[in-house]
Amino acid sequence: MKNLIVGQSGGPTSVINASLAGVYYQAKKIGYNKVYGMLNGIEGLLQDKIIDLDEYFTNKDNLELLKRTPSSFLGSCRYKLGTIKDNEKDYKKVFEILDKHSIDSLIYIGGNDSMDTVASLHDYAVLNNKKQNFIGVPKTIDNDLPITDHCPGFGSACKYIATTLREIIQDNMVYGDTKKTVAIVEIMGRHAGWLTASAALAKDETCPGVDAIYLPEGTFDIEEFVKDVENLLKKKSNIVIAVSEGIRTEDRKFVCELLDANLKTDSFGHKELVGCAEALGKILRDRLGIKARPITLSTLQRAASHLVSKTDYNEAYHCGMKGSELAYKNKSGYMVIMNRISTNPYKIKYESYNDIHKIANIEKKVPNEWIDTKNNYVTQDLINYIKPLIQGEVKQIMKDGLPQHITKKEN
Ligand code: F6P
Repeated sequence: MKNLIVGQSGGPTSVINASLAGVYYQAKKIGYNKVYGMLNGIEGLLQDKIIDLDEYFTNKDNLELLKRTPSSFLGSCRYKLGTIKDNEKDYKKVFEILDKHSIDSLIYIGGNDSMDTVASLHDYAVLNNKKQNFIGVPKTIDNDLPITDHCPGFGSACKYIATTLREIIQDNMVYGDTKKTVAIVEIMGRHAGWLTASAALAKDETCPGVDAIYLPEGTFDIEEFVKDVENLLKKKSNIVIAVSEGIRTEDRKFVCELLDANLKTDSFGHKELVGCAEALGKILRDRLGIKARPITLSTLQRAASHLVSKTDYNEAYHCGMKGSELAYKNKSGYMVIMNRISTNPYKIKYESYNDIHKIANIEKKVPNEWIDTKNNYVTQDLINYIKPLIQGEVKQIMKDGLPQHITKKEN
């Protein structure tokens, strides 16, 4: 009888729980006995904080609720295991706990940093002849994992962003030529501009779209930005601009550091970015004397389960299922990937990649050829790449006019 444990790590998405549901459902179906969940990822596992997922999910209705619940049901962490040489204590502890519960397989659902954890545990197991195997299931709204065509969580965040931008664009036009207004919308994605690029999807025959898009891949020039806005305002009175939270000036400082030079750093060395739209709004107000409103989409863009993309939701579920299949076959150091067979009609294949070291800690950026030469918009190819990922809607389970979610019991 085999047992499996699953964890969630890093920033959540609106469909990361669909992957958890996929892991659980398939693991039980193919013959795992116990399917445990670690609370708060590897950080909780180190303290033996685990739950038996049967307690919740033998009930099919709960599994449906889980698929529609945003954030990470099991809780998350940003915990770096460190190298085996420098931190053997943590590794020994993890394996002690896995042995104690007779766990054979571990699946970690996460982004680049989480894949670093999978790679390190896999390496330790190989070096020390441990029986356990380790599998990564991708998730990240940032869409910056290499090798896979895209990542679960990204499509739904794009759908929310493009939808919300359409609403913001309508609102921002309200005073027309009587007042010049600029809305600056800050979008997550840290060092990769995939998510910010989805702002381009707002445009169609019913919506004029955003007027400029600034990705973190290039250098952000504040003088050029002010000039861009001035020029746009010569042509129209109301403009909307999408900016990545991670845009940096020539000296590699984040624009948000103009507001706060002492940003906190997480255990992977990432600065906690916030305040870019606010900083730019202040610059425009001071320099151009216009109304400039900063809008930070923040948590909303990754928690909007009422607006998930059905395509993304289904893919997240299937990636979870594939993770359990790989684990059951005793694969280790693998990550589930999606391979795009065609864009029109959209077709993908669920596959696996057998060397997680080539994925861990590596950020896939938006390629130059998909960024406009002036670095203030994206190309049609990038729009075509994202479009299939936002298709379809998922019916929420509603009660008293509000969506229902599932929350784990206090432990
Ligand atoms: O890792 C995904 C992500 O959502 C990034 O886009 C964002 O910069 C970061 O997480 C925010 O993380 P946290 O919620 O831990 O501050």
